[in-house]
Amino acid sequence: MRDLLLLGIETTCDETAAAVVRRRADGSGTILSNIVRSQTSDHAPYGGVVPEIASRAHVEVIDTIIEQALRSSAVKLVELDGIAAAAGPGLIGGVIVGLTTAKAIALAARKPLIAVNHLEAHALTARLTDAVPFPFLLLLVSGGHTQLVAVTGVGEYVKLGGTIDDAIGEAFDKTAKMLGLPYPGGPAVEAAARTGDALRFALPRPLYGRPTPDFSLSGLKTAVRLEALKIAPLADQDVADLCASFQAAVVDLLADRVRCALRLMREHGLAPHALVLAGGVGANQAVRRTLHKVAADGGTRLAVPPPELCTDNGAMIAWAGAERLALGLTDDLATSPRARWPL
Ligand code: KG4
Ligand code: ZN
Repeated sequence: MRDLLLLGIETTCDETAAAVVRRRADGSGTILSNIVRSQTSDHAPYGGVVPEIASRAHVEVIDTIIEQALRSSAVKLVELDGIAAAAGPGLIGGVIVGLTTAKAIALAARKPLIAVNHLEAHALTARLTDAVPFPFLLLLVSGGHTQLVAVTGVGEYVKLGGTIDDAIGEAFDKTAKMLGLPYPGGPAVEAAARTGDALRFALPRPLYGRPTPDFSLSGLKTAVRLEALKIAPLADQDVADLCASFQAAVVDLLADRVRCALRLMREHGLAPHALVLAGGVGANQAVRRTLHKVAADGGTRLAVPPPELCTDNGAMIAWAGAERLALGLTDDLATSPRARWPL
């Protein structure tokens, strides 16, 4: 097995991203370039991602982003071993842009195409940054996804639990919107929570203690809305207290659900080498602090990729492409983009 050089393209949501990654024969990896153009400011006036705006914005910048990724990696197109793109799940317009671009490059440069599952890419990132061996427990918490997955190998994923309604990042975003805080809501809620009293409001912890590690956020979100309505108009301190109480409920839920998932893995004879935290919510310090302790108490450790690799990026797609290519897994140019694609 020799070193592999991969170009990775990510366009499933509101980041247009491309990167070049090297995977060495020993399984270690290096990021040679990682260019991300976030569309957050394009969507901010609407309080959420607008699919049509997203796909148009991807089309406008994708060529430049790929050029920049190649130039700053100093790797020439001919030197690449494969072209990887996220083929889903995600907003279909964006997925089409990224995957079609990757197909065109693969065809013109006569390179293999690797159609990567975006969730798989999140799952495998900790092997690039932290050399985490299999098996491990993945907690993926972003604006679009909330999942607990037992990862036992490349392409071997067992979903242990997920959300039955809103994703956790989405709940942060909706809570922020409800309280008049800016988009994206996660960082704004976390900042407001710092000066808030988490004990002022007794908010529900839906599904806490259940034997399967699933999540439900809509009841919690409604409870915040009802409390806010009772005291409207809201003073800054009310907003801070609501944010702190909301965040405390989310942290409690995450801790309980992760403890449950760790227990399930052990019951199936899988001793997790790490609890891997991925997705934008992983940037939250209260979430990290608590999960660090939950992992240690559960006889494992918390592995969190750096923030720029927790959120959507091209390096994770390139890396997942390299892990697949190392196993001889490539895809046909007829591969379809997929809005839905469970692990
Ligand atoms: O992974 P990501 O960048 O994009 C996708 O959704 O794929 O995650 C974005 C989500 C948003 O919902 C955002 O509000 C949330 O992650 N987020 C946070 C924090 N930073 C970002 N949630 C809680 N606390 C944060 N500090
Ligand atoms: Zn993502």
